[in-house]
Amino acid sequence: MYNDKVIDHFTNPRNVGEMPEADIIGEAGSFKCGDTMKIYLKIEQERITDVKFQTFGCGAAIASSSMLTEMVKGKTLKEAQLVTNEDVAIELGGLPPLKMHCSNLAADALQDAINKYRGKRKSVRA
Ligand code: FES
Repeated sequence: MYNDKVIDHFTNPRNVGEMPEADIIGEAGSFKCGDTMKIYLKIEQERITDVKFQTFGCGAAIASSSMLTEMVKGKTLKEAQLVTNEDVAIELGGLPPLKMHCSNLAADALQDAINKYRGKRKSVRA
């Protein structure tokens, strides 16, 4: 059902865990299955310098989270904001159609973190 790359990211997820020194934490949950994800970002001068995640979900969700963290580390917030769940699925070599919604968790948590970060910066400046 899953290709080798997905299985690799599921069984050996990259950047997994908490980040106490994170500048912002993004969260997302799936209405479809109840699974959840948290993403932790360290940001310096609008660039993601470190990223970690915790996902309570299926294999596809964990693989997508792991892949997304690899894709956005080192990117500017502007670049990271353009990463979609389809991009993550493509980078994984594809997900079974029934599992495409699982890749939303990672992309949604990332968007949530970036939006919260921008909101926080705005309120500090105001
Ligand atoms: Fe819930 Fe995959 S079944 S995220």
